[in-house]
Formats: sequence, C-alpha cells, structure tokens
Amino acid sequence: MLYELIYRSDAIPDILEKDIENILSTARDFNEANEITGCLLFNNNQFLQLLEGEFDIVMALYDRIKKDPRNRNHMTLQMRETDYRVYPNWTMAFQSMDKSQVKSKGGVTEFTEFEADKDSALPKQLFEAVSHNMT
Ligand SMILES: Cc1cc2nc3c(=O)[nH]c(=O)nc-3n(C[C@H](O)[C@H](O)[C@H](O)COP(=O)(O)O)c2cc1C
Repeated sequence: MLYELIYRSDAIPDILEKDIENILSTARDFNEANEITGCLLFNNNQFLQLLEGEFDIVMALYDRIKKDPRNRNHMTLQMRETDYRVYPNWTMAFQSMDKSQVKSKGGVTEFTEFEADKDSALPKQLFEAVSHNMT
C-alpha cells in the first residue's frame, strides 16, 4: 500500500550546507534502494518534506528522521494512503527556497504556518508549485 507523509521540522540553528548535502546523499541512496520518493524543501532554517512509499518503510524512515540530531520539533501534517506518487522520478528532490518564493507559491510566510489540523492541501500546493521548477 502506497503512503504519503508530509511533515515539517526545524533544522538545528547552526546547520551547514554540507549537512544538507550529507542528508541528501544518504537519503537518495536509501530511498532508491527502498522505493521511497519525495521532495525536501528548506527555508528559514526549516524543513518541509514529502515522503512517498510503502507504509512500513515510510514510518521506519520517519522514526529515524525524528531522531536525527540535525533537525527537531517535528510536526506531521499529513499521513494518508494514496493511489499515485507526486514524485515518481525523484529519490529526493531538494529546493532551498527564499521567503518570496514561499509566499508566492505557498501563500505563507514560513513553513511553521502549516499546522496539522489545517488543510493539508496547502503544503501540497507548495510542493506542486515547486515541482514545476525542478531540474
Ligand atoms: C530533514 C531530513 C530529511 C531526511 N530525509 C531522509 C530520506 O528521505 N531518506 C533517508 O534515508 N534519510 C533521510 N534523512 C536522514 C535520516 O535522518 C538518517 O540519517 C538516515 O535514515 C540514516 O539513519 P541511521 O543513521 O539511523 O542509520 C533525513 C534527515 C533529515 C534531517
């Protein structure tokens, strides 16, 4: 069964570009081998990630990400069964966004405005808008 998980988290304050490169490198190796796809966005020291894959694999991965010292304060925004992947070809797309992009594409000032009890269509809209610019 295919699942889709969206969460946001805060990066540690002193996160380096190198840390993000390392995260992506680990992620892409693991994800490719385990049929996980998705997208990771970074803005204002915050992460927003969409993970797609088999339920057990996605949940085990999310547990590891929650324990990862490079980020904290996780909030799950959506966890649901889905029929299709938004990012079938991406082992983990990444985009670092500036404030104006987040505002124009997501309609929010920062990812913390996405709340678990609000409409999960909003973060999805942001992923959708960003995916058109991915190369
Ligand atoms: C924001 C963020 C996103 C991550 N995304 C992934 C991912 O998509 N796939 C992955 O395998 N690891 C990802 N990681 C790395 C995992 O947290 C973890 O380092 C990796 O699964 C190896 O786990 P281990 O050190 O417990 O073996 C991410 C880490 C962070 C901080």
